[in-house]
Amino acid sequence: MKECRICSAPIRPFMSFGPTPIANGFLTPDQFAGEYFFELAVGFCERCGMFQLIDQPDREQMFHEHYHFFSGTSRFMTEHFREFAEHVMDDFFGDRSAGRFVVEIGSNDGIMLQNFAKAGVRHLGIEPSKNVAEVARGKGINTISEFFDADLARTIVAKEGQADAFLAANVMCHIPYFHSIIEGIKVLLKPDGIVAFEDPYLGDVIEKTSYDQIYDEHVFLFSLKSISYAFGQHGFELVDIEPQETHGGSMRYILAHQGRRPVSERVKAQLAREEELGLNKPETFLRFRDNCEKSRRELKELLVSLKEQGKRVVGYGATSKSTTVTNYTGITPDLVEFISDTTPIKQGKFSPGTHIPVQPYDDFQKEYPEYALLFAWNHSKEIMAKEQAFRDAGGKWIVYVPAVEVR
Ligand code: SAH
Ligand code: TYD
Repeated sequence: MKECRICSAPIRPFMSFGPTPIANGFLTPDQFAGEYFFELAVGFCERCGMFQLIDQPDREQMFHEHYHFFSGTSRFMTEHFREFAEHVMDDFFGDRSAGRFVVEIGSNDGIMLQNFAKAGVRHLGIEPSKNVAEVARGKGINTISEFFDADLARTIVAKEGQADAFLAANVMCHIPYFHSIIEGIKVLLKPDGIVAFEDPYLGDVIEKTSYDQIYDEHVFLFSLKSISYAFGQHGFELVDIEPQETHGGSMRYILAHQGRRPVSERVKAQLAREEELGLNKPETFLRFRDNCEKSRRELKELLVSLKEQGKRVVGYGATSKSTTVTNYTGITPDLVEFISDTTPIKQGKFSPGTHIPVQPYDDFQKEYPEYALLFAWNHSKEIMAKEQAFRDAGGKWIVYVPAVEVR
C-alpha cells in the first residue's frame, strides 16, 4: 500500500507490467549486465482521481547529460509547437507580446521556445537534461539546466521577475513532487498570468488501450478531475481545455489564479464526459487491465506466427513507449530484427531490456522488411505519408493501438 502523491489517500496497484528498465535507457552491450530494472505497477486514487505509478526511479536516472529524447525529430511536433506558441502570443498576449516573459519547463531542444525567441519575446527554458539543453542554447534560446521546483521558482523571480505565462508539454506528468511544482508556479506567475500545459490524456489511454504511455517517466496520467483537484489545493482554477491529437491523444490545460478568468463551458462538459467514461471507477481500470493483457497476447501471437512463416519484421521508431511494449510482451531480437530510428544518439545502441538493435533509418529503406511494427504509432499520419514506397513494395504495417492489426 502506498500513499497518493497528490492527496495522501492509500492507493494499491491494480496491475503490474513486470520488471521494466529505463524507457529511454538505450544501451551498449557492455552495459547489459548492470542494466537497472524496477517494477512498473500502476494505481488509481479513488479520492482525487490521479492515475499514477506505484514506484518511479530517481529523476537523475532518467534525465541527465545523455538523455535520448530530442523533441525536434518530428516535423509534425515542430509544427504543433509553433502553433502552441502562436496561440499563446495571439490569444493571451494580443499585440503586447514584446514586453512579456514566458517560462517553459522541460523545454528540451527548444522546439517551443524557438518561436518566442524568433518573435523577440523574453523567455526562459528550464531543462535539466544537459545534452538537449545545449542544443537549445545553440539556437540562441535562454536555457538553464536545472530541475524546476518551488525553490528554483523563487530564485527565478528574484532574478528575472514574475512570468506572464508558464508553459510545459509532456513534462508535468513526469514530476512526482507535484505540489512543489504548483507552489513554484504560484510564486512565479503574475496575478493575471496563464498556465498552459499538455500531456497524454488518461481518457485516451483508457479508450485506446494505449498502455505504452505507462513508463518510468510518466509518473502520472492526468484527467481534468485530478488536475482540478491538485491545482485547486494551491488556489488555481482550471479555466479551459484544448484536446490535442499529439502523442495519441493529449489534453492541454489552461489554468489561472482563482477567480481571475472565466471558466469555459468546455471544462464542465469534459468533466461530465469523464464520469461517463467511468474515469472515477475502479471497474474501468480492471477492464483496462484485461484489455492490456489481450493486446499483449495478440501481438505476441502475431509476431510468433510471422516468425514461423519466416517473415522479416522490423520495428519503426525506438520510442520510450516501445520499452513498455517490448518488455511486457517479450519482444526480443528473434521476433523483431532491429528498430529503425532517425535519432543519431539511439543508433548503434540496443533497446532497453530486450536488447533489440536500433539502426539508422537508411537500413530500413535499403531493404524493406515484409512487416514494420509501428512503435511510433502516435506519428502514424506523418510516417504513413512518408513511407508510401514501403507499401508500394508490398510492405505491411503492424499496429497495436487501439487494437492489434495488420494494415
Ligand atoms: N517539451 C518537450 C520535451 C518533453 S520530454 C516535448 O514535448 O517534446 C520531458 C523533458 O522534461 C525532458 O527533456 C526532461 O529532461 C525534462 N524534465 C524532467 N523533469 C523536469 C523538471 N523537474 N523540470 C524541468 N524539466 C524537467
Ligand atoms: P515519440 O513517439 O515522440 O516519443 P516517446 O519517446 O515519447 O514515446 O518518439 C518518436 C521516435 O520515433 C523518436 O525516437 C524518433 C522516431 N521517429 C522516426 O524514426 N521516424 C519518424 O519519421 C518519426 C516521426 C519519428
